[in-house]
Amino acid sequence: MSIVQKICFLILMLVLSTPLNGDDNTYNVQDYGAVADGTTDNTQPFMDTWKAACSSGGTMVIPAAGGNFFVNKIELEGPCSGQVTFQLDGVIVAPSGNPYPDSWFTFHAIDGFTMQGSGMFDGNGPSAWAQCPVCSASIGLYAITNAHIQDITSLNSKGFHFVMVGGEGVTFEHINITAPGDSPNTDGINMAQSNNIQIIDSDIGTGDDCVAIEEGCTNINVTGVNCGPGHGISIGSIGKLEADKDVQGVYVQHCTLTSTQNGVRIKSWAPSYPVTVSNVTYEDITINNASNPIIIDQTYCYDNKECPGESQVRISNVKYIGVTGTSASQVAVSLQCSNNVPCQDIYLENIDLTLSGGGQTSSQCVNANVTYSGTQNPPPCNQ
Ligand SMILES: *[C@@H]1O[C@H](CO)[C@@H](O)[C@H](O)[C@H]1NC(C)=O
Ligand SMILES: *[C@@H]1O[C@H](CO)[C@@H](O)[C@H](O)[C@H]1NC(C)=O
Ligand SMILES: *[C@@H]1O[C@H](CO)[C@@H](O)[C@H](O)[C@H]1NC(C)=O
Ligand SMILES: *[C@@H]1O[C@H](CO)[C@@H](O)[C@H](O)[C@H]1NC(C)=O
Ligand SMILES: *[C@@H]1O[C@H](CO)[C@@H](O)[C@H](O)[C@H]1NC(C)=O
Repeated sequence: MSIVQKICFLILMLVLSTPLNGDDNTYNVQDYGAVADGTTDNTQPFMDTWKAACSSGGTMVIPAAGGNFFVNKIELEGPCSGQVTFQLDGVIVAPSGNPYPDSWFTFHAIDGFTMQGSGMFDGNGPSAWAQCPVCSASIGLYAITNAHIQDITSLNSKGFHFVMVGGEGVTFEHINITAPGDSPNTDGINMAQSNNIQIIDSDIGTGDDCVAIEEGCTNINVTGVNCGPGHGISIGSIGKLEADKDVQGVYVQHCTLTSTQNGVRIKSWAPSYPVTVSNVTYEDITINNASNPIIIDQTYCYDNKECPGESQVRISNVKYIGVTGTSASQVAVSLQCSNNVPCQDIYLENIDLTLSGGGQTSSQCVNANVTYSGTQNPPPCNQ
């Protein structure tokens, strides 16, 4: 063979010996047999594509294919060799009903992960909502570290849209979370035991909390989120289980809440274990007609049934700076802290919340150590 022939032969061997990938280390689910007809079960093709992308540090591609990719319960697992990308430009749809517990589309133990694209996870929620008080989550993120999740849409999850446990260094950016305001327990992003998390410039409208920051979360930054409908941006419920860990360092800035049940809320279980929630700052928050714009509720329990005892969750160093807009109820600032462990160092600066449709709002404080600065509408509790 001539040199040229030898080179051609080598290139040919290379092409034949590599798996079904594009020339840029991409792995398209359609090359692994996935069919976007809404009914073919694509679980195995998705698993196969993931294995190829994960083992080579490549990109798994779900293309915009003119139809939906039906996928059953699936778990895409690491560790992967290097940075791996889940490029979602098509629509992935869940089975109907609520056929399994926990989460439908699960990512587990991946370090260095990007999920992006103009595509969508459709949780098929309407088929499940009547069947379960708490249905399964759409997207599970378990032990995901150093990750960027951007641009994608989660539509009509059965339960939570995103559930994240053990996240570290995860950024959600410019994502769209959508479900009806009356869909049950459809938290937007529900996280626990996670550290260094950012949620940036995203639109969340759903039936429960837009963002729920649960036990064991530290250094959480929520910036530029539009929330509504929904139950607001919440910390908690904290203190239900003995194993619950502290929540420390939460920053919520430049957010707008529209027609939500709550604005910014901290809730702890009434009968509870002793954990702390500390160093929380809410800054530049616009409220459009939320029922409880600023609320600390330490008397939380499911359905308000059987709530004996006082909370042992210690809340301290919480700052509300520049919270303005309208309240759907008269009590715009409600700080209901525990008699056991009163709230310490609650600070309100430049609060201006008027009643929707006009009228004076009021504050209610129980067991709260509050200092004030600047404009206070409603007037402070002790005036
Ligand atoms: C979010 O996604 C839903 C469903 O595709 C769409 O109707 C809505 O316009 C999107 N919202 C934004 C702000 O892009
Ligand atoms: C939160 O994130 C935004 C956007 O990345 C950034 O500008 C801001 O400094 C962060 N705030 C804190 C307190 O980390
Ligand atoms: C909480 O804030 C205080 C004062 O701003 C600071 O001294 C302390 O280190 C912070 N604690 C945590 C756990 O972030
Ligand atoms: C405010 O919200 C309440 C329900 O929470 C609703 O009845 C009322 O029409 C809303 N007002 C405005 C001005 O949107
Ligand atoms: C309120 O907090 C300040 C500052 O931490 C403290 O000096 C004061 O004793 C507290 N008051 C009560 C009633 O707990």
